[in-house]
Amino acid sequence: MQRGRILIVDDDPLVRDVLSAILSHSGLYETELAGDGLTGIGKVKDGDYDMVFTDLTMPGKSGIDFIREAVKLRPSLPVVVITGNSTLDSAINAMREGAKDFITKPFNIATITSIADRIIGEQRLLSRIDRGDNRDSFIGRLNAELFKRLQEISVLQSLSSELDALYSNKEIYEKIVEMISRLLVVKEVSFGIIEQGMLKIRNAVGVTARESSVAGTLFERVVATGRHTLTPFGEINPHTGLPLTTPFLAVPFTISGEVFGIISLSNKADGATFTDDEVSLALTFAKKAAQRIENNALYEVFYNNLINTLKSLVNSIEARDSYTKQHSERVTTYALKIAEAMRLPAEDKDALRFGGYLHDIGKIGVRDTILLKPGQLTPEETAEINLHPVIGGNIIKPLQFFPKEREIILHHHEHVDGSGYPDRLVGGAIPATARILAVADAYDAMTSSRPYRQTKTRDHAVQELRRCSQTQFDPEVVCAFLQLLG
Ligand SMILES: [Fe+2]
Repeated sequence: MQRGRILIVDDDPLVRDVLSAILSHSGLYETELAGDGLTGIGKVKDGDYDMVFTDLTMPGKSGIDFIREAVKLRPSLPVVVITGNSTLDSAINAMREGAKDFITKPFNIATITSIADRIIGEQRLLSRIDRGDNRDSFIGRLNAELFKRLQEISVLQSLSSELDALYSNKEIYEKIVEMISRLLVVKEVSFGIIEQGMLKIRNAVGVTARESSVAGTLFERVVATGRHTLTPFGEINPHTGLPLTTPFLAVPFTISGEVFGIISLSNKADGATFTDDEVSLALTFAKKAAQRIENNALYEVFYNNLINTLKSLVNSIEARDSYTKQHSERVTTYALKIAEAMRLPAEDKDALRFGGYLHDIGKIGVRDTILLKPGQLTPEETAEINLHPVIGGNIIKPLQFFPKEREIILHHHEHVDGSGYPDRLVGGAIPATARILAVADAYDAMTSSRPYRQTKTRDHAVQELRRCSQTQFDPEVVCAFLQLLG
């Protein structure tokens, strides 16, 4: 059989090589590589490919632009997106532009080969039918398929935005149950986690059982096979132990190849059974929600490790300077309270939680003789201390995941009147998080002792904040903070 030709477009040579190695290994595919969108388009023009894998974020032509042009040049060329993004939005955007599917990084070998097998298989079937008869029925099927895909995409879209707004797994579990009961119009839905042979219900509608053993039930089959079961009347309802009176759908919730939980659906409002499309919708839903939870878990581990490392770095700076002990911790607490009062979005609060701790991390680059100097600083010494936001920004720069945190570190000494540093930003050009941190930082600095100045009383600090409101500080932030102080 003729080998499939696959084009891989990614600016990361490692990703290109790994993908190419995975695909070539089977002997079924040969690959061609492109390091950016422009080269990719050139290859699409000249080459005859069966499918394309493309990255979304690349220097120069973006992945989305590449897809748009590639699909225009070769409408039948299937493009699959590789996304490193933890949200599904970018992937869904790409699908709107004509991408056929997407995979999330880090990917595994089985996913890559099964996607290539499926898509190239479909392509070959399509070209066979294109040449032969039975065209009408094929178009009919294609339309039905298209409708199904569109439906899935719109589900994914609302799922994506609704799930992305949630941070804790608990909220995600609640949302899973709510959305699935809404989507499939069923009266009984449960989401449970498998632990030591038990299904422990985390959230449910219309199901009263809290936990049950999976042994001997239809749930056991789902766990063993990793596949869904749609059970007609007659079998036993695993939640109640009574014979089923309506069809019962059990869908595995799989994370890293293991059945982590089960979503059960029964008692459809219209009394009918689940159609193939509804089963497929439930499966897609479970798959995407599981990805969200898995990403959450990966992100949490990664984020926590990193935060702990950086926190110990901050502690080591603060340990040098006994006056500023726990300064960052107090500043973070104040800043979060202000952000809460000002109703900042959750992502800004997250950025403050991390950025607050790290705001002075650049002081690691300031000499002890200056940092700990008890008297007045010379202009040169002041200039050196004033470099700490830029140094801090550079420390965190390689961690591309934290752009908002970096803004806080970089701009926490800007003044709203433009007289601050390092960029002399004015008013709203200073990120809200940095404006908040500036107030929290100044208040804590005034009310805790520093080598170069006496501790001020709380009243004096409040007066200072008021006095410098509109010049140094954002008046709205000062107002919110003073209200908090009572
Ligand atoms: Fe600072």
